[in-house]
Amino acid sequence: MTDMIIVTKDLVKQFGKFTAVNGLSLQVPAGSIYGFVGPNGAGKTTTMRMLTTLTRPTHGEAWVAGHSVTADPRAVRRAIGYMPDEFGVYDDMRVWEYLDFFAACYDIPENQRKPLISDLLELVDLTHRRDDMVDKLSRGMKQRLSLARTLAHDPSVLILDEPASGLDPRARVEIRELLVELSKMGKTIFFSTHILADVSEICTHIGIIEAGQMIAQGSMNDMRAQLQPHREITVTVKDSDAAALVRSTLESFPGVIGIKDLEPKGGRSLVRIDYSGDDDGVAAMSGAINGAGIAVLGFNEETKDLEAIFMRVTKGIVT
Ligand SMILES: Nc1ncnc2c1ncn2[C@@H]1O[C@H](COP(=O)(O)OP(=O)(O)O)[C@@H](O)[C@H]1O
Ligand SMILES: [Mg+2]
Repeated sequence: MTDMIIVTKDLVKQFGKFTAVNGLSLQVPAGSIYGFVGPNGAGKTTTMRMLTTLTRPTHGEAWVAGHSVTADPRAVRRAIGYMPDEFGVYDDMRVWEYLDFFAACYDIPENQRKPLISDLLELVDLTHRRDDMVDKLSRGMKQRLSLARTLAHDPSVLILDEPASGLDPRARVEIRELLVELSKMGKTIFFSTHILADVSEICTHIGIIEAGQMIAQGSMNDMRAQLQPHREITVTVKDSDAAALVRSTLESFPGVIGIKDLEPKGGRSLVRIDYSGDDDGVAAMSGAINGAGIAVLGFNEETKDLEAIFMRVTKGIVT
């Protein structure tokens, strides 16, 4: 089994009588890009504040990189880089001073800080803004600087609260690319978002939280299978004879729920397959059709996007 670098067990946070996080159990595999998804007010920030040792769980427990957030908060802090959802109050510093300050907070010796800052600025593409005041940066640049700051002590786990929120589309894409780059450097990335497009582009795993509870979590593939009772695959062939051959080939294929002909399009025949299997099964199905000597002109799956899945799942919970 994959090592889990963040684990929570029945995590609860109450504010007075209000329960913001309600028995949350999550598992974040080492090396994953994990999207923590949910609408505003779902409990994402509160969960992250418990994981980063800023607030104590009311009940339950959480471990980050093997350390308990309640029993060994210092070890947790050393293992993580945390980017809060607000930039903070250090606007009256130069870009390099900002990083110098946070590197010093992590006890990085002065003679190591200069090359470190150069590397960090290079990584987040802010070298040209090194001597500018932080408050002169665009929001996207501030987010990248904030991300650079979380990397100062070379943590293995990044916990990022809405890193792409409030950014224009271009800046959002830049943040996504940066997250992928950091992942390639071996870091685990746990980030929250209420924007599903961010998730579908880069995540290997997701967890959906609603009203303090985990609705579903797993790898992107598992999630699709879990949330999507069946998949719809359309095979395009040149005529009705070939379509008949597709039907007879797949009739008893494991996982096939139904097969029907669609209206021909542009003189070509279309066969729609309802299928309940996983990606390996889809590949095997494609292999079976080819193996039967059928000339396939198209083999497409209607992927229901995550947005649609998300809407369906959260609706199911509310009603
Ligand atoms: N310090 C607090 N005191 C009281 N209620 C809080 C506090 N922090 C968060 N909440 C409430 O807990 C719920 C979850 O908030 P939050 O974790 O910020 O959600 P998210 O980050 O998913 O938008 C919200 O209803 C919020 O108003
Ligand atoms: Mg939040």
